[in-house]
Amino acid sequence: MRMFKERRGRLLEALGSGAAVFAAGREQRRNGDVDHEFRQESTFWYLTGFEEPDAVAVLRPGHEEPYVLFVRPHDPEQAVWVGPRVGVDGAVERYGASAAYPVEELAERLPRLLDGVETLHFALGSDERLGRLLGELVTRRRDGAQRGAAPIARVADPTPLVDALRLLKGPEELDALRRAIAVTGAGIEAAMRATQPGLHEYEVQAAMEAEFRRLGSPRNGFPSIVASGPGACTLHYTTNRRRIEAGELLLLDVGAEWDYYSADVTRTFPVDGRLTPEQRAVYDIVLEAQRRGIEAAGPGVPFHAVHDAALRALVEGLVELEVIAGPVDEAIEQRTFRPYYMHSTSHWLGLDVHDVGAYRQGEASTVLESGMVLTVEPGLYFNPDAGPVPERLRHIGVRIEDDVAITAEGHEVLSVAIPKDAEAFEAIVGRPRER
Ligand code: GLY
Ligand code: MN
Ligand code: MN
Repeated sequence: MRMFKERRGRLLEALGSGAAVFAAGREQRRNGDVDHEFRQESTFWYLTGFEEPDAVAVLRPGHEEPYVLFVRPHDPEQAVWVGPRVGVDGAVERYGASAAYPVEELAERLPRLLDGVETLHFALGSDERLGRLLGELVTRRRDGAQRGAAPIARVADPTPLVDALRLLKGPEELDALRRAIAVTGAGIEAAMRATQPGLHEYEVQAAMEAEFRRLGSPRNGFPSIVASGPGACTLHYTTNRRRIEAGELLLLDVGAEWDYYSADVTRTFPVDGRLTPEQRAVYDIVLEAQRRGIEAAGPGVPFHAVHDAALRALVEGLVELEVIAGPVDEAIEQRTFRPYYMHSTSHWLGLDVHDVGAYRQGEASTVLESGMVLTVEPGLYFNPDAGPVPERLRHIGVRIEDDVAITAEGHEVLSVAIPKDAEAFEAIVGRPRER
């Protein structure tokens, strides 16, 4: 409660004047009469903590009722079939709204709530129903201006302001990320222990996600990537149906959620515990690239410096493997590495796996600050369909991804405990924990 109130307070301060309106997520039909599992829209949760669909929040800086919530009201029939709702009273008592109303009264009440407001903060396109209601309201106020009423002069997008708040994580957010990452680590270790040639990717996925759920994570932050052999060269491989063959690598790119915060960790390991010399050569290059990327991360450093450091190590490795020609500077300049490394090294991490927050301020790369959390995830992918690949490296794909918090002194690798040394794999892969 306090955390959400503080966030709204910071946003109200940043808004200055006017009023901001935010829509919660909507239930989405999956098939027949079955809906997708509902998860609250991240910014709405960030500002309210409210977990039900269909709500609307109105924030009014300086007003005696600064926080008004519209929610689905209590419904005895619904309560019997799907459980009780928070309801109008709960929105005030449990979620700290200054006032709350049934969402059915939104159209009728919005004009009064926004009376006299000149700057309306609303993310156009974020919610169709709310966008239409606000459009009608702007039109009515414009028409009323001929009779002396104040029109809504500006519609401003609050997204950059909220995103800037979400980019800097507070202690509770870092705690939630730590929990998400600890659960993810336990799941990855369970997956490594369960891995055997001859199993299917989904069997390893099941062992991993069973551990996520057993430890209390309600859902994944994104669909698990469990990619054996050539699948590792497909960046967003999520079919997870293939049979795992001896001698292959298995790439897990996964993240459990905790309190709406998502981990995002990748480990690539040999399915029988031991890397072949070719796999080892690639693995060591990616690991070194990751080490240099992480080392570069700290306060005052531009975001792109992490990518630059990792990329240089990858290109050095590609030249050494004789996959591309040197010199290294020229290969970087001419981007000849692109068939083998086609993604960037980092993204922000938080409520969304690819979290909000600007990567640039105008022309300049965002400067890292204490409280920011980013991934560091270099990889090399030897897909013969993407570029020339020596026979010995065909279909090898390796990515290693950790979650890194920027601190006042430097950085903290939040996922440091999750095994990634080639030596550690031998002791873990295919070896069930002794009980
Ligand atoms: N799991 C998606 C990513 O690593 O960015
Ligand atoms: Mn990932
Ligand atoms: Mn990632």
